[in-house]
Amino acid sequence: MAVTIKSEREITLMREAGKILAATHEELEKALKPGISTWEINRLGEEIIRSYGCVPSFKNYMGYPAAICISVNDEVVHGIPDKKRILKDGDIVSLDAGVIYKGYHSDAARTHGIGEISPEAKQLIAVTKQCFFEGIKYAKSGNHLNDISKAIQSYAEAYGYGVVRDLVGHGIGSHLHEDPEVPNFSRKRRGIKLRPGMTLAVEPMINAGRLNVRWLDDDWTVVTEDGSLSAHYENTILITEDAPEILSRC
Ligand code: MF3
Ligand code: CO
Repeated sequence: MAVTIKSEREITLMREAGKILAATHEELEKALKPGISTWEINRLGEEIIRSYGCVPSFKNYMGYPAAICISVNDEVVHGIPDKKRILKDGDIVSLDAGVIYKGYHSDAARTHGIGEISPEAKQLIAVTKQCFFEGIKYAKSGNHLNDISKAIQSYAEAYGYGVVRDLVGHGIGSHLHEDPEVPNFSRKRRGIKLRPGMTLAVEPMINAGRLNVRWLDDDWTVVTEDGSLSAHYENTILITEDAPEILSRC
């Protein structure tokens, strides 16, 4: 599939989708407390998304059984909500959500601490978020995709962190996953040249330890092989002539 340039009309719809998703994340963050189950967070998330007249992008996507991916501690991404999974003081939790508004998707993830978390966990969350901002410094017309990837990788590796190789960001629009792939690590090829109107989901997935991951038997949950903590931060952005517009922030 070719990389698409969105029209003004499409961009308007993706802006609206992004605003709704940002608001959903803000609401969900308020609900995070020791004692809440990941199932309850998902239930609330789906309720919020539908209250805006949107549909959760992930529900039934490739058979995914919930609206939100909720990944705790050594879980990297795609954790499945579970009534028995109760958050406790000191946990870190990544919430990854997508919404469809009038046929257009927005995709964003945040990682939060529950109660008091360790300095190591705090740093991992902050650095993962900063990886996104380091990457998008290069997300403008005329640059190449690999400029974003390289910036993310070098920022994370300066802290000794492992940059996950088995999952990547992606183009986004009328489909959740569109071309191009947006890796968080440098490749030999420079990748496509960025052009105004391209919309990308940039999503660093960073491990405190080694970069290796494995899949659990549920065929969804990705965990770090060494059991180290992992964080995820993602937004949907619009490439312009200048600094990108972050669509999934209020
Ligand atoms: N944000 C993730 C991604 O871009 C989540 C989608 S996987 C799903 O791949 F199956 F849960 F939808
Ligand atoms: Co994504």
